[in-house]
Amino acid sequence: MLLTKEEEATLDGEYGLAKATAMKLLVTIGEVFEARRLVKVKSAQISGISYKNIGDPGLRFLQRLRDLESKVTVPTTLNPAGMDLLRWREIGFEEEFAEKQLRVADIFKSMGIAPSYTCTPYLAGNCPAKGEHIAWAESSAIVYANSVIGAQTNREGGPTSLACAIIGKTPLFGLHTRNGRRPSHVIRLKFRINKAVDYSALGYTIGKISGCKIPFIEASLIPSADELKTLSASLAASGEIPMFYIRGVTPESTEVIKELDECEHIEIERWNLRETLDELSTKEEFDFVCIGCPHCSLSELEKIAKMLGKKEAKRKLWVFTSRYIREIAEQKGYVKRIESSGGRVISDTCMVVSPLEKFGFSGAITNSCKAAHYLPSTCKLKTDIRELKECIRAAIS
Ligand code: F3S
Repeated sequence: MLLTKEEEATLDGEYGLAKATAMKLLVTIGEVFEARRLVKVKSAQISGISYKNIGDPGLRFLQRLRDLESKVTVPTTLNPAGMDLLRWREIGFEEEFAEKQLRVADIFKSMGIAPSYTCTPYLAGNCPAKGEHIAWAESSAIVYANSVIGAQTNREGGPTSLACAIIGKTPLFGLHTRNGRRPSHVIRLKFRINKAVDYSALGYTIGKISGCKIPFIEASLIPSADELKTLSASLAASGEIPMFYIRGVTPESTEVIKELDECEHIEIERWNLRETLDELSTKEEFDFVCIGCPHCSLSELEKIAKMLGKKEAKRKLWVFTSRYIREIAEQKGYVKRIESSGGRVISDTCMVVSPLEKFGFSGAITNSCKAAHYLPSTCKLKTDIRELKECIRAAIS
């Protein structure tokens, strides 16, 4: 890989051990993937923030980086942590867990990273422009950034996104190149999508078919921003898809139309979606309703507040969002409306990366296939997937 004099000096340790270690990681990855050089990134999004996921080894790794006085050099945001960092005590997170999670948060703060704690950084102040190179971890945000915004990022992991944030660059390969962004197959829909939860099921179904390849979704779809957020998350839950194309949605869609004739064509029918929903739903007794995978947007919080009205939630209802969106929702009165119905609007964390299994719930109703994919293994919860308004109806009935 070609390195500039400055990059070689960084690798040789002239700017300290932290930068040298980060550079070594990027150069190694670049060489594995035959990148020609590094490219500057405009921002980074780091995953692996929850103490539940990283445990003591992760905490020790981060402490070591802090001891080396590591600092990020580009605007950087964070994925959800393992708890609401401001309201953890009143929600009921355990002291011991909280103490470790707060240490993780302190380390990231000392590196100069914004305390965003969300998987929707593009809704919380870190929204790149079309064509910009970025280094994002968090599979749902990666798909959204590549496919909806037209920014360019590989599927970074926690350590590599942190290395990119420290160096301000990433190896130039894969989704950062024209070749790496070509669709490999066409998915044709033989029906109309008319419910938001169908976008979640559609993404999950396509993810299973596509693996790590890039699909061009051929259908007369006009998804909303919230539906695209949902689609992005579920595509990356069942598969390792880094991006998708939809005509009129993906900024580069017109540029690849000519290439589609050579691609394999696969048809999806409505029953494929029903099969996906059945596969992820166990239809048993549920005592918990959780919404916000990915984190809720302001318009979703508004909808939930309106659906609840003055009714009281009889089941536990937890709604997850970023602290950025929560603050705006507080000003608009949505948080008060939801919480006076007995629900909770929780920020900084989510149903999958928090230790939900410690709260004694038996089963969760959700509107997200991604949540239903992970909850049985990460939180020992059975799941049932429903449309948003049915989730709220289940909470109040
Ligand atoms: Fe976000 Fe957690 Fe779902 S990180 S996409 S809410 S699993």
